[in-house]
Amino acid sequence: MASSRITDTKKEEIRDAADIVDVVSDYVKLKKAGGGFTGLCPFHNEKSPSFHVTPRLGIFKCFGCGEGGDVFNFVMKMEGVGFVEAMRTVAERYNIELPHEEQDDEFDERTQLTEGIYHALRFAGQFYHEQLNAEDEAAEARNYLGKRGLKTQTIRKWGLGFAHDRMDHFFSHATEQGINETYLFEAGLIKYSEKNQRAYDTFRGRLMFPIFNPSGKVIGFGGRIMEGLKGPKYLNSPQTKVYNKSEVMYGIHLARNEIRKNDQSILVEGYMDVISLWQSGIYNVVATSGTSVTPEQMRRLRNYSQNMLMVYDADSAGQNAMIRGLDIALQADMHVRLMHLPEGEDPDSFVQQFGAESFLEYTEKESKDFISFMVAHAEDAGEWEDPLGRKKVVSQILASIAKVKDAVLRATLVDHLRKLSGVGERALTAELGSHSQAFAQEQQRAKEREYRQMQRDENSPPPAEEYSRGEFPRIPDTNGGSRQSQNITPKKKKSPAEKEIIRLMIEHGDEMIYYVGQLITHEYFEDEELRLFYNDIIQRYNDELPVSIEEYTAQDPPFPELTGEIFIEQHSISEKGNERRTTRITRDADPFATARGALKAVTRAFYTRKSEGIKRQVETSDDDLRRELYTELMDLSRKKSSLERTPADELFPTLDDMMKSDT
Ligand code: CTP
Ligand code: MN
Repeated sequence: MASSRITDTKKEEIRDAADIVDVVSDYVKLKKAGGGFTGLCPFHNEKSPSFHVTPRLGIFKCFGCGEGGDVFNFVMKMEGVGFVEAMRTVAERYNIELPHEEQDDEFDERTQLTEGIYHALRFAGQFYHEQLNAEDEAAEARNYLGKRGLKTQTIRKWGLGFAHDRMDHFFSHATEQGINETYLFEAGLIKYSEKNQRAYDTFRGRLMFPIFNPSGKVIGFGGRIMEGLKGPKYLNSPQTKVYNKSEVMYGIHLARNEIRKNDQSILVEGYMDVISLWQSGIYNVVATSGTSVTPEQMRRLRNYSQNMLMVYDADSAGQNAMIRGLDIALQADMHVRLMHLPEGEDPDSFVQQFGAESFLEYTEKESKDFISFMVAHAEDAGEWEDPLGRKKVVSQILASIAKVKDAVLRATLVDHLRKLSGVGERALTAELGSHSQAFAQEQQRAKEREYRQMQRDENSPPPAEEYSRGEFPRIPDTNGGSRQSQNITPKKKKSPAEKEIIRLMIEHGDEMIYYVGQLITHEYFEDEELRLFYNDIIQRYNDELPVSIEEYTAQDPPFPELTGEIFIEQHSISEKGNERRTTRITRDADPFATARGALKAVTRAFYTRKSEGIKRQVETSDDDLRRELYTELMDLSRKKSSLERTPADELFPTLDDMMKSDT
């Protein structure tokens, strides 16, 4: 075959040019060992390195799982692509020209689909980028980027682009250029109208940030809305075969070597933060893209360095997200430092105003290990001076320490906390023990969950949701978002108020979920199944997945049953349809008022349970602790009676108030 002969010579040329150590290093942290390098195998789970790279021969081999081959095999295996695409990836990296698209019939359909998607994404990246530089309509976008302080060279390096605010501007161009519609759809670049099944562009009226995988291939986009247009501020590509939000780190293709060199990564929140820091000369920076920190992201980042500095926005949403991310990072064995920027700043605004040197100086002075950070945080909030406040914070820190796997590190951290808090080692160790136990249980449940998910995945393709968060921010508190075991034995009859809250969240969507999420936490649910439900709704909200009756009736147990219980029981309040409707309408005339009533009841019950818990604890504690517990108890009973005296509508802010104080 003619094409395969071209392939043979090209193949040699590319293989000669490629540095296998360099390519493998995109994914694996390699250490020099004799004439070669070793590291932890990316193809199976291992604790000590049995993965070897021999640059002299241009090959890799894992003595643990047997995987091995040349640079192309590595890329094929790592990125799930066929030979031609692997060759193209390596060729692009070393600036070697390849003849146009060669199709090879050895591919199975799946590989072909993956490559089609990559091709569509590459096309889209180029298209949006060209659009930014051409035409009058993009002038506004260009001015905007200029105003944000981005230089032309930066815009080029990051492949920034512009999507017109028209229905199918991109789609029509792409199809004219012969890009297969199926691939456009599978790449998340177009959607279909429900009304008339017509294709339209996913991204309209947006500044486009291509998202790259470690070897620099476009795998998706983040689109920032142009000023003056309506819609969520950022819209990210849906989950696709090549874009898995839970493992992608924005900026990793340019940061990975620098992270290795500095032996530290800097994790920030936003696309603009990454780019501005990069432009200022700080290169070891990445962001999560459209999600909160995930274990998989941390695992990948750790391949480059175990040390990470987190710098999130100085607002409370940013700080909460940072503390949540911290636990995930600790769990993944990362060594984490945290930094608080001056009020109102994010890394982008800071470095644009003050420059890289000030940023690094500030980092030097202000970044803290996570324990010192949390203590300082509590001091600022006035929680540290107050004994009960301090107790709470110490307990929070211990909960984080419990996530650290390394026993020696854990002990060092406890000692550090002891010095900062003045709490005795015995007390600290005892409480750490109970946190560890709780955490171990949670882990066990997570494992079972993962197993079930795996079984599910085998029967169904990954979801490609088209759903966008809208203007409501993430909700900090979930139980690590963990969906707990489904084998919960419900204790007693469920509280109507708890059910009511779940119903309202499902029925009224984002606004209501956000509202409730700001006012209570999963702990407020006594019923374990409803607590699980609550966590799941919050998790789906944060992951921008749909929340609806249909969605939950299609889920695994216990969700369909619970959904039934929550919605059907209510219907059976009255037999007659129209009467039911009347009840419903009066009840939900203002769903937020309904919510406040239910929130009040749930909060009250929560205080009661908490008091009971403390009373039980009193029985087994020494004098000192007992005094503390009594103060806590008094405090609770004060709260509870004030709650009982206040009408629900005065107890809680309105959604509007909440949105105002949020910004
Ligand atoms: N984000 C998202 N979806 C949203 C809002 C935010 O995916 N609706 C993600 C984006 O990755 C974004 C990051 O969260 O970059 C941080 O959000 P934000 O601080 O609001 O935006 P900035 O990156 O600071 O953007 P800008 O500076 O342009 O305001
Ligand atoms: Mn910003």
